[in-house]
Amino acid sequence: MNTLIVYATKHGCSEACAKMLSKELAGNVELFKLKAELTPDLTEYDRVIIGGSIHMGKIQKEVQVFCTRNMEMLLDKKIGLFVCGMLFEKADEELNNSFPKELLTRAMAKEFFGGEFKFNKMNFVDQLIVKKAAKINNDFSQILDENIKRFAALMNSDC
Ligand SMILES: Cc1cc2nc3c(=O)[nH]c(=O)nc-3n(C[C@H](O)[C@H](O)[C@H](O)COP(=O)(O)O)c2cc1C
Repeated sequence: MNTLIVYATKHGCSEACAKMLSKELAGNVELFKLKAELTPDLTEYDRVIIGGSIHMGKIQKEVQVFCTRNMEMLLDKKIGLFVCGMLFEKADEELNNSFPKELLTRAMAKEFFGGEFKFNKMNFVDQLIVKKAAKINNDFSQILDENIKRFAALMNSDC
């Protein structure tokens, strides 16, 4: 079973979660960080897991473009979808707004993995937004390990 985890990240949290997830998955697992100009070759993978983080209510554009560009191929794969974010009360809404319906309905696993605020990785504007909106002034991590494990168990269930 070959799995590719495709992700986008702004401050490194989705990358950390993708790596944590990769350790829980059965079979061969590879990671691919999405960049505007680069598209992975999906042909050799049975499972494709797509993830990213929510900033100002939206997942990264790279994730949206990846899903649209590769939809035909993705519909032939086992799919998993995850988002990182800090608005726990909006977890379901953010997850459902981040991916096309065709993928959401076919996904074997979809989860909100929580998130973190790391001030040394943020630019000045992001720091200001977090301080004002979230009223948080120091690094804070709330990655949901149990959600990552549950996601992996679902993905592994037909291996
Ligand atoms: C400027 C800014 C805006 C954010 N907006 C949202 C948001 O709308 N919803 C949410 O759930 N989390 C929001 N977050 C929290 C991020 O999703 C969280 O920090 C996440 O861990 C970032 O993941 P990344 O490092 O992979 O980009 C925001 C964070 C920043 C810095």
